[in-house]
Amino acid sequence: MTVLVTGATGRVGRHVLQELNERGVPARAAVHRPAPDTTARAVSFSFTDPRTWREAMRGATSMFVMRPPQISRVKEDMLPALSAAREYGVKRMVLLSLQGADRNPAVPHHTLENWLRASGLEWTFVRAGFFMQNLSTTHAAEIRDLGRIVVPAGGGRTSFVDARDVAAVAVRALTDDTLVREAVTPTGVTALTYTEVAELISTELGAPVSYISSGPLAFWRHRRAQGTPHAETAVMLALYSACRFNLAAGVTHDVRTVLGRDPISFSRFAHDERAAWLPRPHQPFRNQV
Ligand SMILES: NC(=O)c1ccc[n+]([C@@H]2O[C@H](COP(=O)([O-])OP(=O)(O)OC[C@H]3O[C@@H](n4cnc5c(N)ncnc54)[C@H](OP(=O)(O)O)[C@@H]3O)[C@@H](O)[C@H]2O)c1
Repeated sequence: MTVLVTGATGRVGRHVLQELNERGVPARAAVHRPAPDTTARAVSFSFTDPRTWREAMRGATSMFVMRPPQISRVKEDMLPALSAAREYGVKRMVLLSLQGADRNPAVPHHTLENWLRASGLEWTFVRAGFFMQNLSTTHAAEIRDLGRIVVPAGGGRTSFVDARDVAAVAVRALTDDTLVREAVTPTGVTALTYTEVAELISTELGAPVSYISSGPLAFWRHRRAQGTPHAETAVMLALYSACRFNLAAGVTHDVRTVLGRDPISFSRFAHDERAAWLPRPHQPFRNQV
């Protein structure tokens, strides 16, 4: 078996690749923008560039499928690549989906799930909750430079999950048969408000971090001023607005059921990724809120 890992440089994909390598499962990293240090086992790949498909897909039997946040028209920009993978002999696809995607036709993952269900392939949907790693990537600069988190989530709770747990569940789905034709929803053990998130990061850093619940318009201006693209800002706004109304607060036991251990806690995540919030010499974050 050879697993093709899309989004191999991404938040979940990098851990999927690492865990497959650690287990000795043959894996090929599909890399969108190869870097100079990209390894020999990586191939250049884009869902939207058919010239990259043959080399990436040849000999692959399973595929970790991640929808790049930049792709919203999945029918046009992802399904042709998935059909090609099936033609090249891929038999199993494990989709990184979104908590509640089955109930929300507006999200692209809904379309991907429907296609996979009818595809004749073996599939698993990993419907992840919000990643803890959003705090150490998307929101890292404002935490580091201004000591604050700005999101339009009000006092709503979110059942954050560590991307490493999501990856571990996906690896289980790729490497054994128990999760074929199943949907799993990995979340953390508890749902947190952003005030609690700020407190936990603050405790880890020994420095104050506060939460500012912005209104939708202020958030829009804030992210756009930081250079977040229009479409991505719109998606963030929709997702955080759902959090405001506790629509992302559902806690499951799926990590424990699949992996036989508790999910990684937010405190441990904050400890492991504290370097993301430590001062570094660079241009200060622009204060637009
Ligand atoms: N963030 C969350 O809380 C969360 C929760 C649940 C589900 N999800 C879902 O998880 C998925 C991944 O989101 P993320 O924010 O964590 O992103 P990510 O995986 O950290 O980054 C996106 C990845 O996609 C690659 N990529 C970009 N354009 C591509 C293309 N045309 N073809 C192939 N690969 C391409 C990027 O490679 P380069 O960097 O080389 O361009 C990068 O590796 C999304 O579908 C999202 O909806 C996210």
